[in-house]
Amino acid sequence: VIDIRKLYAETGYFTYDPGFTSTGSCESKITYIDGDEGILLHRGYAIEDLAENCNFLEVCYLLLHGELPSPEQLSTFDKTITYHTMVHEQINYFLRGFRRDAHPMAILCGVTGALSSFYHDSTDIEDPHQRMIASHRLIAKLPTMAAMAYKYSVGQPFMYPRNDLSYAENFLYMTFGVPCEPFKVNPILSRAMDRIFILHADHEQNASTSTVRLAGSSGANPFACIAAGIASLWGPAHGGANEAVLKMLQEIGSKDRIPEFIKRAKDKNDSFRLMGFGHRVYKNFDPRAQVMRKTCHEVLGELGITNDPLLDIAMELERIALEDDYFIEKKLYPNVDFYSGIILKAMGFPTSMFTVLFAVARTVGWIAQWKEMIEDPGQKIGRPRQLYTGATQRKFVPQNERG
Ligand code: ACO
Repeated sequence: VIDIRKLYAETGYFTYDPGFTSTGSCESKITYIDGDEGILLHRGYAIEDLAENCNFLEVCYLLLHGELPSPEQLSTFDKTITYHTMVHEQINYFLRGFRRDAHPMAILCGVTGALSSFYHDSTDIEDPHQRMIASHRLIAKLPTMAAMAYKYSVGQPFMYPRNDLSYAENFLYMTFGVPCEPFKVNPILSRAMDRIFILHADHEQNASTSTVRLAGSSGANPFACIAAGIASLWGPAHGGANEAVLKMLQEIGSKDRIPEFIKRAKDKNDSFRLMGFGHRVYKNFDPRAQVMRKTCHEVLGELGITNDPLLDIAMELERIALEDDYFIEKKLYPNVDFYSGIILKAMGFPTSMFTVLFAVARTVGWIAQWKEMIEDPGQKIGRPRQLYTGATQRKFVPQNERG
């Protein structure tokens, strides 16, 4: 490993690495990915095992504390999180200030940042106890605020959290429940929701997590840092991809038009890409996509959706792309977003909520990474250098002599 800091101090040289494709920005003990082999481990545990055997809060505990919880630890953690699910009542009024047609990601980004003005105690990042409370608050409140953003967009009343329900059930209740009707949780759907949360919980130094770390490296408070992460996640090359997948499938419209779109994806003069294919790190099947594919079929089976035209197009697209030389050569496999959009649509979420759900799930990863950074004695403010390509120094021209 080259000590870049030493090299820079001695020679003035620095690495030029657009997109940081080969630059490690930190040490971390949280998540391990082997993109060539298609392996994803959280604290050493395979994502497939966690998705199969744990609930989301167990995985949250693991990411935050480094170990899987004992039954007592899980019960205490569960109570701690549910204790924080309500948001300050003023947040209701704050949220109502958004335009009715605001994108829920815009709302989530704004409201999460605003938490720093409601929970001043948790902005003391020097205090380990407060850092943990901030983590609990964020994990607990994100689903509440996400559901509020949805309710606001459809003109329904906000549903207060129900702490007798599990994390995933409560989220479905706050999103789809209405005050005048009893709410019945479908266990297959709540399990699918829980699994979607687990599969998105952390993914080492992706764009949004790096954004959280970079924002936090200056000492910014955790709510502001997570809001920065949400902003970064919003982009279609990152968390916005599952929304983009659905739009693409709708645009394709029918199976016979797939070859036309495959051709476009391969054309270097066309900016079109197959959404839901490819990954910066995975050059093999994304292990999360495998679990998501299985969950997708379970959900559609449960809901009795046997001939969904978009799903038919998706399955045919997957088959054709996996046999296509271009995709094989460039190692472009379906990623987690390819299937998650289809599941979420079947569950009744509008496409504008897809990235919001990703943000709810990823909050634990962001906050675990933020904590790890703050607690690292070698932590420094993030400050990349640049390769300057602008003008060399020139003589100043007074305004009246210009043009
Ligand atoms: N469709 C067609 N061609 C593609 C695709 C795609 N989806 N993805 C990559 N390629 C091609 C590129 O054109 C490039 O070709 P070239 O070598 O001839 O120039 C080559 O594959 C490598 O692509 P890069 O953009 O250099 O790969 P990078 O690692 O930077 O990009 C990314 C990864 C952004 C995910 C990309 O594959 C993509 O845009 N995919 C579609 C969007 C998507 O699904 N994003 C979700 C990511 S997963 C997540 O955030 C949870």
